[in-house]
Amino acid sequence: MKVRKAVIPAAGLGTRLLPATKSVPKEMLPIVDKPTLQYVVEEAVKSGIEDILILTNRSKSSMEDYFDYHPELEEKLRASGREEEADAIRGIADLANIVFMRQKETLGLGHAVYCARSFTGDEPFAVLLGDDVMDGEKPVTLQLVEAAEEYGCSAVGARHVALDQIGKYCTLRYEEMPGEDKIFRLLDAIEKPRPEEIFSDFAILGRYVFTPGIFTALADQKPGYGGEIQLTDAIARLAKRETVLAVDFEGRRFDTGNVPGYLETVVEYALSSPEYGGWMREFILKKARELS
Ligand code: UTP
Repeated sequence: MKVRKAVIPAAGLGTRLLPATKSVPKEMLPIVDKPTLQYVVEEAVKSGIEDILILTNRSKSSMEDYFDYHPELEEKLRASGREEEADAIRGIADLANIVFMRQKETLGLGHAVYCARSFTGDEPFAVLLGDDVMDGEKPVTLQLVEAAEEYGCSAVGARHVALDQIGKYCTLRYEEMPGEDKIFRLLDAIEKPRPEEIFSDFAILGRYVFTPGIFTALADQKPGYGGEIQLTDAIARLAKRETVLAVDFEGRRFDTGNVPGYLETVVEYALSSPEYGGWMREFILKKARELS
């Protein structure tokens, strides 16, 4: 099996970042000088993905504009000798074959993924959440693609999280796989578990590879936590029919979908930016001195 396609659900309402997200999609908020969504697309491309479907909604057309050519802007940059910037602006639209589809009703992540079935057809595909940025030395999606291709099955990205935080994520029941210390077999999953439902501190975080079997599970998936069609519920059902791997991936994960998470991401990326890192460090040290 070969994973060539990816789906990026970015159709959520982003209510935790209001009022900014009233008219700016959270996926378009900048992390230093690039929108979150560009980092996510670049991770997919570095993982060998050629075709990308971005799920959007009626108030998020700026995402389509961003991945299109902008001849007027390019011309202006070139006219003033800013060739490199003009090439970079053009390069964004050439990153991959990107198509867009609207999720007409915001019924949940599971529903968003189900909307992608005509795009993926009978091929396996990756899913990358549009507001989660990952900075693994080896792209996190590639880590999942390699596991999924080796075993010929679905794979989800998972990490151990603090047990008192697990209620914000999902909890996994899993078992070891012979000869593997980072890859496990997923047995069950519960989204936003109550304390008495917790299986473990192992949770799925933002990256997935699925066989088309996920659509069979999603086709009749009932609404779950929060009244939404939950992807986790469909994964739990898929795991009872097919092998699903939980890959304890390497790399850091940044959730840009809430204010503290977004601010943390901006500061971390600014610190590691070749252009602004030195400035950011000095600024933080100066602020720390002022505050102490
Ligand atoms: P989140 O729950 O983090 O996004 O969904 P949200 O619903 O936009 O956030 P809040 O709670 O209102 O602040 C995770 C990912 O799934 C997408 C979101 O865009 C995000 O990338 N999503 C969620 C959809 O594409 N469609 C949905 O119906 C729900």
